[in-house]
Amino acid sequence: MYRELKVLAVVVFFSLLTYYLVEPYAHHEMHKKVDANGTELVIESHGFTYDGRDDIAEAKRSGNETLVATKIDFWKDVVEISKLEGDVTTGEAVFANCAGCHNGMSMNMGGVIVPNLDHAGRIYDKNYLIALIKDPAMASNVDHKYADTSMHPMGSIKFTVSDNQQIADVVAYMLEKKAEEVTPKEAYEEACVRCHALRYKKMTQLGDTPTFKHKKDALAHEIKVIEEQEKVQAYMGNLPPDLSMIIRARSAHFLETFVANPQGQLPGTSMPRVGLSQEGYDKVKAYLTEAGDPSKKAREELGPWVIGFFIIFTILAYLWKKSMWRDLH
Ligand code: HEC
Ligand code: HEC
Repeated sequence: MYRELKVLAVVVFFSLLTYYLVEPYAHHEMHKKVDANGTELVIESHGFTYDGRDDIAEAKRSGNETLVATKIDFWKDVVEISKLEGDVTTGEAVFANCAGCHNGMSMNMGGVIVPNLDHAGRIYDKNYLIALIKDPAMASNVDHKYADTSMHPMGSIKFTVSDNQQIADVVAYMLEKKAEEVTPKEAYEEACVRCHALRYKKMTQLGDTPTFKHKKDALAHEIKVIEEQEKVQAYMGNLPPDLSMIIRARSAHFLETFVANPQGQLPGTSMPRVGLSQEGYDKVKAYLTEAGDPSKKAREELGPWVIGFFIIFTILAYLWKKSMWRDLH
């Protein structure tokens, strides 16, 4: 008995050692992220809050002093605006400036279908929304793509809604009136589908694929999808990948930090930062899990039963062994 316990202790010790020290160390060494100059990047998650610290650190690494100053000023203004008290009624009137483009008509503007904003106050972070209205390219951290950031497809908003109080008002309006319960599917449709198809859910950049009675209609739809994808590709440089399997292909840490700031993981990537709040991210992730791993829930529910079975089985086996040995003595 004593000998067996000693063997068990040794096994447990080495398992814990591997799990807590060796594995994380190997992971860290093998997945090291470095920038173009070989400096190690520390990719942390900030819990989906946006204050520009990653952007400023990136600008500093690039050694461009003017860019550093621009980024610092920009995010300082965002924090100032976030302290203003927004007026929901005035904000509703300001929102008319947005509704010209965000009109729910699924039209492509400058490369992507303009997203629906029905749950914008729920799925996006407040500071991010402020930054987005101040300058969409800066907020999305894709300003490096533009000589003049007002060339971004939503860039003209800088001129139409330029007053800080107006920005605070329209954001207050969204946080209050565009913030109803959102389903995982709605969150995905509003935040990601304009760029990423989801084959397993029969979703393309045009949204859900309807079922067609006639082959001719199905083909006509396919052509529309191809045309839409060509526009997205022209805007992004390449067609964003289908995300059906992403939940299995990548770690949770990668997905979270990539969505929070794509430039942090893939410097120079054309994917914009989307500005999700924690809740918005959780919903999107739930939808991606449902698409890529539909049996996950059932599997997890089965787990405790299997463990329970093993415990009962072990007790029975032990009792049986004891009774057998008693007779032998
Ligand atoms: C000139 C047309 C236009 C106007 C005006 C406009 N938008 Fe947009 N908006 C767009 C386009 C196009 C996109 C998608 C851009 C992309 O994905 O690169 C977008 C994206 C967004 C997003 C999603 C951002 C993200 O990072 O995922 C939000 C939120 C948004 N707009 C809010 C607003 C608000 C609020 C206003 C008014 C204050 C507004 N927009 C005015 C065209 C416009
Ligand atoms: C305006 C277009 C656009 C939007 C909106 C967008 N993405 Fe992307 N995304 C891209 C592009 C382009 C790439 C390819 C990046 C590259 O390879 O440089 C990409 C890549 C990715 C990748 C990396 C895939 C891989 O295999 O490495 C993930 C994960 C991802 N996007 C998730 C999301 C999620 C989740 C959303 C919604 C919250 C989203 N994206 C919204 C354009 C977009």
